[in-house]
Amino acid sequence: MTGTDTVLGAPAERREGREKVTGAARYAAEYDHPGRALAWPVPATVARGRVTGVDARPALELPGVLAVLTHENAPRLGEPDDPALSVLQDPRVPHRGWFVALVVAETLEAARDGAAAVRVLYEAEEHHVTLSAADPEAYVPETANGGYPAVTEHGDPDGAFAAAPVRLECAYRVPPLHNHPMEPHTTTARWDDGLLTVHTSSQGTSAVRAELVRLFGLPEDRVTVLAEHVGGGFGSKGTPRCDVVLAAMAARHTGRPVTLALPRRALPAVVGHRATTLHQLRLGADAEGRISALTHEVTTYSSRVREFVEQAAVPARVMYAAPDSLTRHRLVRLDVPTPSWMRAPGEAPGMFALESALDELACATGVDPVELRVRNEPETEPDSGRPFSSRHLVECLREGARRFGWAGRDPRPRSGAAGPLLVGTGVAAATYPVLVSPCVASARALPDGSFLVRVNATDIGTGARTVCAQVAADALGVPPERVRIEIGDSRIGFAPMAGGSAGTASWGWAVHEACVRLTRKLAGHTGGLPEEGLAAGADTSDAAGAKSPWSRHAFGAHFAEVAVDTVTGEVRVTRLLGVFAAGRILNPRTARSQLVGGMTMGLGMALTEGSTMDPAFGDFVESDLASYHVPAHADVASVEAYWVEEDDPHLNPMGSKGIGEIGIVGSAAAVGNAVHHATGVRFRELPLTPDRVL
Ligand code: MOS
Repeated sequence: MTGTDTVLGAPAERREGREKVTGAARYAAEYDHPGRALAWPVPATVARGRVTGVDARPALELPGVLAVLTHENAPRLGEPDDPALSVLQDPRVPHRGWFVALVVAETLEAARDGAAAVRVLYEAEEHHVTLSAADPEAYVPETANGGYPAVTEHGDPDGAFAAAPVRLECAYRVPPLHNHPMEPHTTTARWDDGLLTVHTSSQGTSAVRAELVRLFGLPEDRVTVLAEHVGGGFGSKGTPRCDVVLAAMAARHTGRPVTLALPRRALPAVVGHRATTLHQLRLGADAEGRISALTHEVTTYSSRVREFVEQAAVPARVMYAAPDSLTRHRLVRLDVPTPSWMRAPGEAPGMFALESALDELACATGVDPVELRVRNEPETEPDSGRPFSSRHLVECLREGARRFGWAGRDPRPRSGAAGPLLVGTGVAAATYPVLVSPCVASARALPDGSFLVRVNATDIGTGARTVCAQVAADALGVPPERVRIEIGDSRIGFAPMAGGSAGTASWGWAVHEACVRLTRKLAGHTGGLPEEGLAAGADTSDAAGAKSPWSRHAFGAHFAEVAVDTVTGEVRVTRLLGVFAAGRILNPRTARSQLVGGMTMGLGMALTEGSTMDPAFGDFVESDLASYHVPAHADVASVEAYWVEEDDPHLNPMGSKGIGEIGIVGSAAAVGNAVHHATGVRFRELPLTPDRVL
C-alpha cells in the first residue's frame, strides 16, 4: 500500500488552520441567522431552596427585551439522561448559580440588562457545601465513574502494611478545578417547521442530539446538531450542557433563532468541574522500596442533582505491583454545583496523590525515584491480572531520565541552592486507559479522482479532521490532498465524543474500515465511475465494542525542574519534559501539541489552578479568568514532549492509543516532587501558591 509510511505518521498541518487564523472559521455564536435574538441567563443567588416568585416586568419594560423564560412559562421538557439539563422546569434550587430564568432580547446588551433587572424571590434553606472525609453522610457508591467498581481489595492490606519494614501514611488534597475552555459553552438554535437545528460548542454531536430528542420529544431526524469548530472543552463539553437546552427552548418560545453564549462567570456552576478529592494513601515496603501493601482511599463529593464519582483511586490499580492492596471511593452529596468530566478524570488527581506518595517512599528508603518505580513494575495488571497489551513505562522513565539529564542528581533536599532560589528536580509516572467506542463512517470515490470521507468526529482544537483524513488517505493509498473530510454533523451518523482520549481511535477505526471497503469495491469496478461516485460505509459496533483480553493503557514519565524563590514563595517551572508510550503516533505535530497542552494544564494544576468553595455563600470564589489562574506564556518556560516507538497489535487498525489526556496525568506530581527536592518541604495540598510555599 502506498503512503503508509508517508501519510500516517506525517506531521500534517491542521486542515482548518488558515480558516482559524484568518477568522473565517465560524463558531457556534457566529451563525447570525436573520432575526436572531440573544439570551442571557439569571443564576440563583441562594445555595439551596426554591423560587417563590419571579417578577419579569422590570426586564420586559427594557427596550429590546423580548421574553423572560422561567419555570412558570418555559416549554415543558421530557426526561433527560442528565438531570442537570432539566432547566426551568420546577422552582427548586439545588445549588447557587443554577439558572432560574433566561432573558431573550434583540441584542446581547439588552439581554444582559434584562437579566440584571429580573427580580427573583427565594425561600432559602440551610446549605452544606464543605467536603470532609469525616462527614457522617459519606458513603461508598456502587461504582465510580467509568463503571469501575468503587472498591477493590486484594490479600490483606492492613496486615501487610503492619508487617512492612517501611510504612508511609499520607494525605493529599486536590482542590476543585474548572475547565474554562476559551470558547464558552454556546449554542445557536433555530426551529423551522418543527425541525430543530443547533450549532453548538460540543465535544460530540451524537450525544447532544440524543438529549434533544429526549427533551423535546422529537424523532431523531427532526434534530440536527452541528459543531464545525469548537474552542476547547477539556471534558466540560463531553456531554450536552444547559446552553443547548435553553437556546432551543428560547427559540421555540420566541419563534426566533436564539444564541446563548454562557457568560464566563456562569460556567463554574453549570458546566461541571473537577470535584475536590481527599486522598488517604498508605504504602508498606521493604528497605529496598519494594511495595508490599498499598491503600488508596479517595473521598469526593457530588451535587444533589446527580451522583458523579471522580474515579481517582483507579490508577492505583494498574501502576505498581503490590500483593496486598485496597482502593476505595467514598462520596458525600453536597449542595454544590454538579461536578463532571475534566481532562483525565480520575487519573489526574489520583496520580498526583499516588506519584507524590511514591516520591515520599523514595525519600524514606533512599532509593532513586526513577529506580523505585522500575523496581515496582508489575508483570501483569495488578488488579485484574490481565497481561498488558504493551506498557513501556520503564522505557519512558529511562528515556526521560536520559534526555532530562537525571543521572548524577544529588537526591538531598535543598541541595540545589542558587542565590535566593532553591532549584530542585522531580519525576512522576503517568497512565491513562486506552478506550474506544463504536462509530460509523463512509467513504466515496468521485469521478474526478477525489474522495469524500464522512465521520461525525468533532475537532475541539486537536486536529481531529486532519488526522481522520490521514487515516483515510493511508487506507485508500492516495495522497491526503485527494481526501475531503466532513465532520461535526449529527446527520453523518453515530460517533462518540472527542473525549476519553478515544476520539482518533474510534473515528479512525471506522474511517479506516470504510476506506478499506471502498478500495476493495474500486478494485472490482471496471470502467469510469458514475457521477455520484462509488461509496462504502462502515460501522465498528462489533469490532470496537468487543471486550479485549488485554489490559490496555498508555504510560508516560514526567521530569520537572523548578526554581523556588525563598523571598516571594513563587515557584517557577523552568523545565518540564515528558516521554510517553502511546502506541503509534499518527501525527507528530498535533500529538506533540496535545501532550504539551496536557503537561501545561498539569503545570497549572500544580501551581495556580484551584477553586475555593465559600462555605457561607455556597459558591466558588474563583469564577473568572482573573481569579482562576491558568498558566500564561510567561509561566511556561520549556515544555518538551517525546514518545517511545510502540508497536501494539491489540488496539485498532492504526495501532494508536490516546494522547489527549495522558499529558496532564502525573505532571503536577512531578512539579510537586521537584518543589520538595528544592525546599525539603512536602506540600500535600494543591496548588503550590506563594502563600502556601512561603
Ligand atoms: Mo475528556 S475529560 O474525556 O473530554
